[in-house]
Amino acid sequence: MLNLQLSAKEFNLISDLVYNKSGITLHDGKKELVKSRLSKVLRKKNIDTFREYYKILVNDSSGDEIIAMIDAISTNFTSFFREIKHFEFLKSDIFPKLKKNDLIRVWSAGCSSGEEVYTLLICFMEYFGEKSANNFRFSATDISTRVLNKAIKGIYHKDCCKKISLDLLRKYFQKGSSNFDGYYKIKGKYSKLIDFKRLNFMETFNFADKFDVIFCRNVMIYFNKETQEILVNKFWNSLKEEGWLFIGHSESLMSIQHKFKYVAPTIYQK
Ligand SMILES: C[S@@+](CC[C@H](N)C(=O)[O-])C[C@H]1O[C@@H](n2cnc3c(N)ncnc32)[C@H](O)[C@@H]1O
Repeated sequence: MLNLQLSAKEFNLISDLVYNKSGITLHDGKKELVKSRLSKVLRKKNIDTFREYYKILVNDSSGDEIIAMIDAISTNFTSFFREIKHFEFLKSDIFPKLKKNDLIRVWSAGCSSGEEVYTLLICFMEYFGEKSANNFRFSATDISTRVLNKAIKGIYHKDCCKKISLDLLRKYFQKGSSNFDGYYKIKGKYSKLIDFKRLNFMETFNFADKFDVIFCRNVMIYFNKETQEILVNKFWNSLKEEGWLFIGHSESLMSIQHKFKYVAPTIYQK
């Protein structure tokens, strides 16, 4: 198998392109990771050098090549009930403040393969009851079409479902059989409540309505301060008055300019 070489110059060209298109910052320490992930793309496409690949990327007017590249290099780790404190806070502090008959809009921004938005849906359903389903609108977006397709399918291996109680698994998922033995699929009546869309945070947000709750967790760590600041202010504009923004446990809005009120660690309010 051909051992592809990625020079410092080629790495810089690719990281500038990634930054300009997605806001993701790839510092020098990521060179080996980029090389290994993109080498697979090059081999699949029978491209011999990164120089050639770069030319294809910049000349691709459809944008598909760039999407495939960002798909290959982005980190999509997620899980059900990840950072459980956020879901406990929703239940204890936010749900009681939401009026049962109002239309409630929730956005999982950077949803990856869907575990976050399905967890949100389960929490809302459990608290407000299924009869209120029509009062919720869930949006879930990601830049990566690969993970988004997985989220839309809503099929997860049993190992990924370990944090979901047996009761909730039975209620919200169908157990797979034959070819899907060992997998669970979110029931159609629940997945249809979620609007999945590809959205790049660097582009304009075109939501018709504002949100009550935005989860944007474990995404901003890949962005520099300047990009984080622009994004956080776009979230501000996308929230209703008094709406909430949740960020990842290892993230902070400390060193950026924003108008949010701090509510609890990694939880902010407009
Ligand atoms: C580590 S996952 C986080 C998933 C989930 N929010 C969680 O906390 O478990 C980060 C996600 O952000 C997405 N992402 C990265 N850059 C993005 C951008 N510019 N626009 C939209 N999504 C982006 C990635 O594709 C990835 O699926």
